[in-house]
Amino acid sequence: MKNELVERTAQGFVRSFGAEPQRLILAPGRINLIGEHVDYNDGLVMPAAVDKYVCFAMGPGVAGDRCRITAIDPDESVETSATGPWQPVPGHWSTYLLGVQHALRERGHEVQGFRAAFSSTIPMGAGLSSSAALCCGFAFALDRQFNLGLSGTDIALIAQQAEHAFAGVRCGIMDQYASVFGMPGTVMKLDCDKLTHAPVEADLGGHALVLFNSHVKHAHLASGYNDRRREVEEALRIIRSEFPEVTSFRQCTPAMVDGLHDKLGPIGHRRAAFVVGEMQRVEEAAQALAAGDMARLGALLHRTHQGLSEEYAVRCAELDLMVARTMEQPGVAGARMMGGGFGGCTINLIEKDVVHRVTEAVTAAYRERFGITMDVYPVRIVRGVHEYTRA
Ligand code: GLA
Repeated sequence: MKNELVERTAQGFVRSFGAEPQRLILAPGRINLIGEHVDYNDGLVMPAAVDKYVCFAMGPGVAGDRCRITAIDPDESVETSATGPWQPVPGHWSTYLLGVQHALRERGHEVQGFRAAFSSTIPMGAGLSSSAALCCGFAFALDRQFNLGLSGTDIALIAQQAEHAFAGVRCGIMDQYASVFGMPGTVMKLDCDKLTHAPVEADLGGHALVLFNSHVKHAHLASGYNDRRREVEEALRIIRSEFPEVTSFRQCTPAMVDGLHDKLGPIGHRRAAFVVGEMQRVEEAAQALAAGDMARLGALLHRTHQGLSEEYAVRCAELDLMVARTMEQPGVAGARMMGGGFGGCTINLIEKDVVHRVTEAVTAAYRERFGITMDVYPVRIVRGVHEYTRA
């Protein structure tokens, strides 16, 4: 599958530009075991890169500072300049790439003309961070092409800045970081405050992680996501006015949040309670994983779903039904919506022997209720963005 994608991308480059690409880059999408909506609150999260990729084929330009980028799947090209200025094109894929060029320039990096083509196996709007992979892959490709000397952290931050400034989503750093620093077979415990990570071996005993794609595109994601950010920023401001020693939600306790119920108001209280609770769950999940306690890990995942649904209100009916039907099945340790919410995939911790049966049961229930056939992706954890060497 990976080789097919690389070949398709290389051939697309040849078709578009009549020359072989100089290099091929693969940037993976990500899952997140636990720790949702805490990355932009300086929390810990547990993502991993998975075997769905954006592939870039890259080569030098032919005319001065002109750049040409081809999206192979819609077979559409844009022309841009290496020196800018660049403007977002709302709703269009080029926004992300122009955003990367803009972010590089803002940080003082200069590139020359280039030609690039890309293609992807990451479903869009499914919560697997196709846009983070797109931005990280492109930043990495430009770094290699023009020897910019970027570190992995630089690439993640540039990709994040592209989303903030051009796509208008004030995302945290989890998706970009996972796409850059992913390690095969290993979930990372990422500290989003310090931007450091530690590997956590993904030994799930007799269990497997499986994704169910609801095919509900999270249309509200940009506005809903930014709204949640505003709500928790306001909640933190109120908490800090009472507890000046607190600098982030990392230092907040459930008791502090509960004691401020009236000041926070019902919505602020629910949002803050979710963030503080989720931060605790990440710590507990890391312990459960280390102890091989899948029942406990699964229970934590499901508690996260309930929190996302009720306290953080990023629910949708389709995801709630899918998780409820999954949890009813024998052999399921846990299930929850994954990523920003409002649609996309659920992540499910299921005994290996019963994955097929559970999948069939949930597929049938989901189709019966919503008339949608879900997609199923077994999770394979892979390395982060890298240059691909053809055999
Ligand atoms: C999206 C964002 C991430 C993170 C998740 C929720 O994927 O891009 O930064 O906030 O939502 O955990």
